[in-house]
Amino acid sequence: MTILITGGAGFIGSNFVIDWLATQGEPVVNLDALTYAGNLHNLVALNGDSRHHFVHGDITNRSLLDQLLQQHRPRAVLHFAAESHVDRSIHGPGAFIKTNVEGSFTLLEATRSYWNTLEDEAKAAFRFLHVSTDEVYGSLSPEAPAFTEDHVYAPNSPYSASKAASDHLVRAWHHTYGLPVLTTNCSNNYGPFHFPEKLIPLMIVNALAGKPLPIYGDGQQVRDWLYVRDHCSAIRAVLAGGRVGETYNVGGWNEMANVDIVHTVCKLLDELQPSPQGPYARLITHVKDRPGHDRRYAIDARKIETELGWRPAETFDSGIRKTVQWYLDHPQWVANVQSGAYREWLEEQYTTAAGSNLSIASTASIASTASIAPTAPTASIAPTASTASIAPTASTASPAPTAPITPVA
Ligand code: NAD
Ligand code: DAU
Repeated sequence: MTILITGGAGFIGSNFVIDWLATQGEPVVNLDALTYAGNLHNLVALNGDSRHHFVHGDITNRSLLDQLLQQHRPRAVLHFAAESHVDRSIHGPGAFIKTNVEGSFTLLEATRSYWNTLEDEAKAAFRFLHVSTDEVYGSLSPEAPAFTEDHVYAPNSPYSASKAASDHLVRAWHHTYGLPVLTTNCSNNYGPFHFPEKLIPLMIVNALAGKPLPIYGDGQQVRDWLYVRDHCSAIRAVLAGGRVGETYNVGGWNEMANVDIVHTVCKLLDELQPSPQGPYARLITHVKDRPGHDRRYAIDARKIETELGWRPAETFDSGIRKTVQWYLDHPQWVANVQSGAYREWLEEQYTTAAGSNLSIASTASIASTASIAPTAPTASIAPTASTASIAPTASTASPAPTAPITPVA
């Protein structure tokens, strides 16, 4: 059997593919458009692993989706691909509507067509698992109970509105067409391969570079934090045992204010790699708040625990220590992301067949995605305190391959 996942070169998707192959061993077709957030370096551990079949392509490309589904006949589609950064959605919402809404719609339609061709038994066993976010529920007051699966949808950013729209499409495809869907709504992830535009990795890489640590507003916004590998195990549990048509909230039981997160990161760095200039907290800088900034998210994860027996394995203390250590142990990964070199490596994968151990699909549709268009977010985002320190810009982040692409078999 095979599963097809979308967005498997991103932060959570790449952790999931690695985790899946280590724990389940079932082959994976990994479809990813390799936007600025997609990084094949995340998957180097799978070099030479024939169970991983990477396909460079876009979820808005219906003919590519049809072709992949027919060719690989997956027993499940796991949908991670998205534009995922709230700040970018504020500066350039168009890409979020395109991928998160139109892309999810296209994927649902292609999956429905494929699913309709399956024999009864395979049809009943098939699953479409949609990976979503707690942000669709909007903001909580300090004393309000945590989000349950019945919480009203009240998205406040272009990102969360686009994710809410995709959740509604998934729900409708189940109720109208009978597609066997599952949806997970997860809190803030952190861990290896997290792109340093998001709070925790940004604080780590900026601190190590002696740059300011920008905290939006008063820093008292509260998020629930989940170690990414716990998210992976939750998705596996939902895929294996989740009730069709249901949604499952996934969280770490770790509500913390942003300012406390940043101090925790600084203290760990003080311990693990002290700076001659003194404690890293000296770099903390309060900057202008994010427009429409949600004050608090909190996840009630009792349903997934009661029904499926899932609980996070990591505490925040253990997860954040592993995370900081991972960044200290992988300076080259950080340097490649910051310089944009991770994008050049993509070009090498296409043009130097001998150098590639990744299985990059040879499909007609790849040719149409060969010119990796600079995606709107990197090109149009105005530098803010948080993004200014990310080196890839329109000029470095998306070098379109100039040589004709030689698909690697
Ligand atoms: P990410 O931005 O790190 O990765 C997204 C991946 O999707 C990238 O590899 C990118 O190249 C790919 N992609 C983007 N547009 C595409 C398209 N049109 N076609 C094919 N691939 C495309 O995101 P992430 O943090 O790994 O999040 C993965 C999923 O989990 C998203 O759906 C996100 O909404 C959800 N989620 C994330 C978090 C979090 O804390 N990061 C929490 C809850 C839910
Ligand atoms: O809640 C789940 C969501 O978590 C996911 O759906 C999103 O894809 C993911 O990006 C994340 O969204 P957030 O907006 O919560 O993540 P971010 O890391 O951007 O910000 C976390 C908090 O830290 C938020 O309150 C904003 C604040 N922040 C962020 C940055 C980047 C700062 O104070 N300074 C910063 O520089």
